[in-house]
Amino acid sequence: MKKSELLEKYADTIDRMVKRRHTYAEISDLIRDETGIKIGPTQISRFITSRKRRKKESPHPSSVKTKNSTDTITFYKNGTLFCYLTRTESGIYHFSYDEEYKGKKEFASGIYDKIPPFLENLLPEGENLRQLEKSVGTKEKFVLLQHLEDSFGAITTTPVAKRVPNFSYNPDSYEETLLSIEDIRLSIPKKIIDSKRFNSPFSGETRLSKLSGAQPKLSVVFENDELRLQENLEYSNAIMKVDNLKFRDLNLVENMLLSIARFELGFEVAEAFVVVDRQKEKGFLAGDPIGHFITRRFDRHPPGKIYDAYELASLMGIESEHKYSASMEEIFEFLEMKLPPKGIRNIARQFAFSYIVGNGDLHVKNIALFKKAGGFTPTPVYDVVNTKIYPSLQKEDLAIPLNGKTVVTPQEIFSFLSSYLNRGEIREMAETVNGKYKEYIEATPFETQTAQSLENFFENRMDSLHKASFFS
Ligand SMILES: Nc1ncnc2c1ncn2[C@@H]1O[C@H](COP(=O)(O)OP(=O)(O)O)[C@@H](O)[C@H]1O
Ligand SMILES: [Mg+2]
Repeated sequence: MKKSELLEKYADTIDRMVKRRHTYAEISDLIRDETGIKIGPTQISRFITSRKRRKKESPHPSSVKTKNSTDTITFYKNGTLFCYLTRTESGIYHFSYDEEYKGKKEFASGIYDKIPPFLENLLPEGENLRQLEKSVGTKEKFVLLQHLEDSFGAITTTPVAKRVPNFSYNPDSYEETLLSIEDIRLSIPKKIIDSKRFNSPFSGETRLSKLSGAQPKLSVVFENDELRLQENLEYSNAIMKVDNLKFRDLNLVENMLLSIARFELGFEVAEAFVVVDRQKEKGFLAGDPIGHFITRRFDRHPPGKIYDAYELASLMGIESEHKYSASMEEIFEFLEMKLPPKGIRNIARQFAFSYIVGNGDLHVKNIALFKKAGGFTPTPVYDVVNTKIYPSLQKEDLAIPLNGKTVVTPQEIFSFLSSYLNRGEIREMAETVNGKYKEYIEATPFETQTAQSLENFFENRMDSLHKASFFS
């Protein structure tokens, strides 16, 4: 690349550094560090003068500039300046940290031929993405990134950290419960709420969340016993997955499986519950009392604490659309570099559990790690579903291949996992699920068809585990 082209690519970075009174020598050093090419201070000075002449006014990087093709997005971490992503005229990207940012630099600065995956993964998918594209009027991810009001973890495009609302509600203040079995151990709270007072912020036209993930969802705030949509520049403290009629009872299935994971197997799981939205008896979806899944955000803590957390896809450099492409072998190889044995064991347990309960959707966006002072640790478990009971999903046992295959026998998956977990532990997990699944299915207000499909699935799976001598 010619030096003049390189200077054009670095134009916004240079402007920013000049504004912050960096010397030309320092700018020269930065370019040399990132590209290996030495451009002397005199040449930089000449470039700046000619650029000023060309532009008449000195450019000023603001958080969002969409007018021309050399745009810069400013990202904040925990509310303070963090990094910049510039799209250059030739359509490649330049990523750099703010000079004042003193924390660890997890991602390499420099030139990228696509949006760096750790930023791309902040975008939503599925219907949520479609709605965002429609409202902004483009499918260009670089432009869409500038419109995120909510994102996973500490990196945001919001300039000012506002408060995290206090997550509070009292299950006893609701009038009825759908479940009469008091000891059913559905997650937090212990009951499924069927409240006439539950005031859903959802109607067919509601602004969907801009958080990552494909299921239709809202960024909500649960505060003072009330559920409302996240307001501008406010952090959401909960996520609401709205009932998706394409996958009947999926929210109840997720709640049930998270409950089994938490209460029977001691996993740390995202706090969650399901509310039945009575309003829907009137309007949209009339006649169907439907269940919305609400999970409290584990990356947001009132009054203002935001945890640094990344989906595995972000850390592994995988974009959303390739979330099914990393293999099990690659994931564990990667985890061995990032996590202590305890953390790896935790994730191996998640894979074992997922196989036992028919969750074929454990991909690199459904596993996430916190980044704390002492290093990485797994976040609580989230997005555990059963993909085997839905005809359009049925085939796969695994979201990502093991030995090149996504349909695997118990022997194959467990012998792979036994490098990280002992077999006795896997067996115990399978036995516990075997002893409990009926109780949980009965206690959850599934439609008959869902309950039947789940029973059939578990019978078959337990049978195959027996045959593979996974029970004593
Ligand atoms: N309890 C939670 N706290 C914080 N972030 C969450 C929580 N649950 C999910 N997320 C984030 O939101 C994304 C979408 O949630 P997920 O449950 O995976 O929905 P989907 O079914 O759409 O994939 C996740 O990939 C993760 O980044
Ligand atoms: Mg997910």
